[in-house]
Amino acid sequence: MGHVVAEPFRIKSVEPVRKISAEARRAALEAAGYNTFLLRSEDVYIDLLTDSGTTAMSDRQWAGLLLGDEAYAGSRNFYHLEEAVRDVYGFRHVVPTHQGRGAENILSRILIEPGDFIPGNMYFTTTRLHQELNGGTFRDVIVDEAHDSQCDAPFKGNVDLGKLQALVDEVGADRIPYICLAVTVNLAGGQPVSMANLRDVKALAARHGIRVFFDATRCVENAYFIQKREEGYAGRTIAEILREMMSYADGCTMSGKKDCLVNIGGFLAMNDESLYVKACEWVVVFEGMPSYGGLAGRDMEAMAIGIRESVDQDTIAYRVEQVRYLGDRLIEAGVPVVRPIGGHAVFLDALRFLPHLSQDEFPAQALAARLYLDAGVRAMERGIISAGRDANGANRHPKLELVRLTIPRRVYTYAHMDVVADSVIRLYEDRASIPGLRFTYEPPVLRFFTSRFEPVPRG
Ligand code: F0G
Repeated sequence: MGHVVAEPFRIKSVEPVRKISAEARRAALEAAGYNTFLLRSEDVYIDLLTDSGTTAMSDRQWAGLLLGDEAYAGSRNFYHLEEAVRDVYGFRHVVPTHQGRGAENILSRILIEPGDFIPGNMYFTTTRLHQELNGGTFRDVIVDEAHDSQCDAPFKGNVDLGKLQALVDEVGADRIPYICLAVTVNLAGGQPVSMANLRDVKALAARHGIRVFFDATRCVENAYFIQKREEGYAGRTIAEILREMMSYADGCTMSGKKDCLVNIGGFLAMNDESLYVKACEWVVVFEGMPSYGGLAGRDMEAMAIGIRESVDQDTIAYRVEQVRYLGDRLIEAGVPVVRPIGGHAVFLDALRFLPHLSQDEFPAQALAARLYLDAGVRAMERGIISAGRDANGANRHPKLELVRLTIPRRVYTYAHMDVVADSVIRLYEDRASIPGLRFTYEPPVLRFFTSRFEPVPRG
């Protein structure tokens, strides 16, 4: 099973959780329309829906909350945040936003013209939607291996430079306002991008005068994978690696709810002064003054502290290795998961797990529902439901049909991981009994959040 990296903290405060009865779980699942997003948190025993905003803050961050300067303008906490972003990420200008999608909204608005194309290394739901709402078209330029759950390549988040160049040749560089590069790639399974690839993408983009913006949401996890896997980086600190990564971008959007170790917050950062001015013009419309962007002063303080804590070697090693522990247990039992194990989650390959279901019977949604019934563990569908419909109204059929077991940062112990692993292994042994699902309600956009289902009768 490999070595276990023990917790680099001791527990000062606890939040009781309980597992409700099997009967109560069945009633809760039916009330939620078989959609794990619609369950009440109190009915969940181990919540692996997301690693977003579910982080346990440190005692220093909690202390920081008391130092909130809640002035409407010019709060000192904004300047702390700005300093932290400058020091740790290296970008000159920072616009706080209420969370990552607030930053995506502003970036898409200030850079995209109708008819533009935005290449990216696999889509993310909110990112792509903001691009489309501004008249842009997302184009996937990730390497082919990313779509193959069983390929064990070390950097499956990489951009295929051939695909990127082909898009430039096809539509012209002036139709590509920026390249949007996620580090790591959430929907590919939390897979990282290599430093060499970041460097190459920047070089290609620079030749054509195209900007590069990172979706930096899980960038510290990406830095850890570079340290572990890429030649020449074993002796470098996480902070050094992160700064080098960011040197290949013109700016970034950030969901602080992940690698900034906070429960709410985000930002848009960039070096270009004129872009910053434009971002400030829009942030006041959607979020608030450029010195708070939808956040309380105390939240900016917690994020500033979290940004500095996040690059601590022990903190990030524990985070990624705990995820790997869960993944290794499942791999040893023969459960089909996305390989290699990513930074924030273990992804079950639902098409391989439930081969008796077609993708149109929503195997990932069905498996997530059954996992809740079995053990009170909440996971998230990342497959055909998340991918939504195309412009013609047809279901998109992504190659990856996954259930994401997302591990919150600093929240659950290895014993919790064992409970999850035991349940998934039990379900795998009993997989033939798991029925497919069909819609009873489907909303028009971002349907995964609120759609409802019922089991498809068998036979
Ligand atoms: N980019 C990536 C890669 C994300 O994973 C997320 C959020 C966002 C942008 C948007 O950030 O939620 O702060 O507005 N991901 C969450 C998840 C929701 O569960 O994966 P946000």
